[in-house]
Amino acid sequence: MDVKVAKTAGFCFGVKRAVETVYEQIEKFNDTRIYTYGPIIHNEEVVKDLKSKGVDVIHDEEELKKLDSGVVIIRSHGVPKRIHDLLEERGLQCVDATCPFVKKIHRIVEKESKAGKHIVIIGDENHPEVQGIRGWSESEVTVIKTEEQAQAFFASSESGICIVSQTTFNYNKFKYLVEIICEKNYNVSVLNTICNATKERQTEAESIAKEVDVMIVIGDKHSSNTQKLFEICNNACANTYYIQTLDDLNVNQLKSVQTVGITAGASTPNNIIEEVQNNVRINF
Ligand code: F3S
Repeated sequence: MDVKVAKTAGFCFGVKRAVETVYEQIEKFNDTRIYTYGPIIHNEEVVKDLKSKGVDVIHDEEELKKLDSGVVIIRSHGVPKRIHDLLEERGLQCVDATCPFVKKIHRIVEKESKAGKHIVIIGDENHPEVQGIRGWSESEVTVIKTEEQAQAFFASSESGICIVSQTTFNYNKFKYLVEIICEKNYNVSVLNTICNATKERQTEAESIAKEVDVMIVIGDKHSSNTQKLFEICNNACANTYYIQTLDDLNVNQLKSVQTVGITAGASTPNNIIEEVQNNVRINF
C-alpha cells in the first residue's frame, strides 16, 4: 500500500515552536513552577502531558495577579502589552513564545498607533490573537469581521488609518473588507499580515486527497481548522475519514485499498500522526 503523508500535516511553525519551548523550559527549570498563559495549544493530550510534568495553565489576568514566582510562557497567539508589563511588575520570568509573524503585527501596530493612526484589525474580536494585537495599540482600534462593520466604519484620526489582519483570516474576505474601507477615501495603509500556513495545509491536503483511494484526516472533533480540512478532503475524495486518534481508525475501511493519504489539523501532535501512519503502513 502506498501511504502519502502531508508535509504540512499538524502543527504550523509557530505552534511547533511554542510547544517545543515549553518542553525546553521543563528541562531547564526543574525546580521552578512553570505556567503557560492560556493552554499552549487546543489539544487535551498535550495539555494533560504538560500538567503531568508540572506545567499549569493560567487562564486570565486575575490569576496572573495572584502569582508571585515562577516562569510564565506566552503562547504563539501572543498577548497584549499590559500582560508583559504585569509580568515585569510582579517579577515573574517571562518566556515569550509568541509566533514571530504575530510579533511582527504587534510591532507594526505599536509603531503606527504611536504615529497617531487609527488601527483597524480585520479579524474576530474574540480571538486571543486579535485581543493581543489590539493590546499593542496606543491609539483607537476597530476590529472588523463583517461587511456591515466595514461599511459602518468611521475613522476618528486625521493621521490616517492602518489596516492589519489576524494571521488566520481568509484572504479573499480580507481583500473584500479592505476594498469597502478604502472607498471611504481615508489615508489608508494596508498590511496583509495573513500567514500562509493554513492555506498551504489545505492546498496540500486537497491535492493528496485527489490522488488517493482513502484519505484520513486526524484532529480534535472540536477543532474548526480540522473540520474545514475534512470538508476540503471529502470534496476531493469520497472515502475520507475523520479520526481523533488511532483508536478511531476502522480497519475495514482500508481493506483492498491501494493508496492512502494522511493529513492533520493544526493542533494535532506529531506522535499521533506518526502512530496512525505507522499502523497503516504495517497492517495493510
Ligand atoms: Fe502558525 Fe504563526 Fe502562522 S502560529 S498559523 S505560523 S502566524
